[in-house]
Amino acid sequence: MSAPFPRARDPRVFPASVSQWSVAIPRDADPAVAVPGIALPAALARAVPKRRLQFLAGRLCALRAIEAMAPGAVFDPALQDAERCPVWPAGLVGSISHTDGFATAAVASSSAARGIGVDVEAIMTRATAAEIAAMVASDFETNVAAEAAGAGFAEVLTLIFSMKESLYKALYPVTRRAFEARDCTLETIDPATKRFVLRLAQPFAAGFGDRFAGAWDLADGAARAGVLLPSHVAG
Ligand SMILES: CC(C)(COP(=O)(O)OP(=O)(O)OC[C@H]1O[C@@H](n2cnc3c(N)ncnc32)[C@H](O)[C@@H]1OP(=O)(O)O)[C@@H](O)C(=O)NCCC(=O)NCCS
Repeated sequence: MSAPFPRARDPRVFPASVSQWSVAIPRDADPAVAVPGIALPAALARAVPKRRLQFLAGRLCALRAIEAMAPGAVFDPALQDAERCPVWPAGLVGSISHTDGFATAAVASSSAARGIGVDVEAIMTRATAAEIAAMVASDFETNVAAEAAGAGFAEVLTLIFSMKESLYKALYPVTRRAFEARDCTLETIDPATKRFVLRLAQPFAAGFGDRFAGAWDLADGAARAGVLLPSHVAG
């Protein structure tokens, strides 16, 4: 049962081998709600209601995605490591993303992927997009993506940001190396296959090569992106 978070459509950014679960976070959801099996960490006890709901919804998605892929896997959905990353069961990799009204989790077997990153971003306003544009992408990247996605400036900037965040979320738990959006470049974006390739500057991608493929989608007022790190690359 997913109450108080009704099931929602999964982002279409992963192959069928990835287990996904997504929920809506209703506007009137009660931030004091108890979700069976998920205890709010002490660090979030005094967080704003929106943050508490997003945490619970995201972790519920993780629990359901794991149950579907690996029934019986040992998983404490409330656990965070010292850097806020979820702690996934042995043999699985996963990723969580949420917006004000939506949460999703994606889980893959570690024999199939060394890491996975999912990211969902509500389309930013034009003013916000203009303000952060230079931090997110070059004019060239933005123009290439606008033409491919057939979308306006704010949508495209949100999309590129989401692509780069999805790569970050796939790599960080493995490499523990932080990088910024301008450390990677959108190299290709295909409107037919909805695939993209990001090139990441060394040394952030040490051991992984420098090109990373992912999938993207623009739907329901949000940009969505997903990256799977292949299992065959050396670490
Ligand atoms: C950590 C970060 C990736 C989260 O992304 P976000 O868009 O703010 O938020 P999302 O809702 O998509 O994801 C949040 C979830 O990611 C997970 N997460 C947190 N830190 C993480 C990390 N370092 N690596 C992977 N996943 C992480 C958690 O599950 C978190 O949700 P929870 O705390 O409720 O469980 C982001 O805040 C960040 O620090 N980015 C790096 C710097 C940057 O902005 N770079 C530009 C793009 S490269």
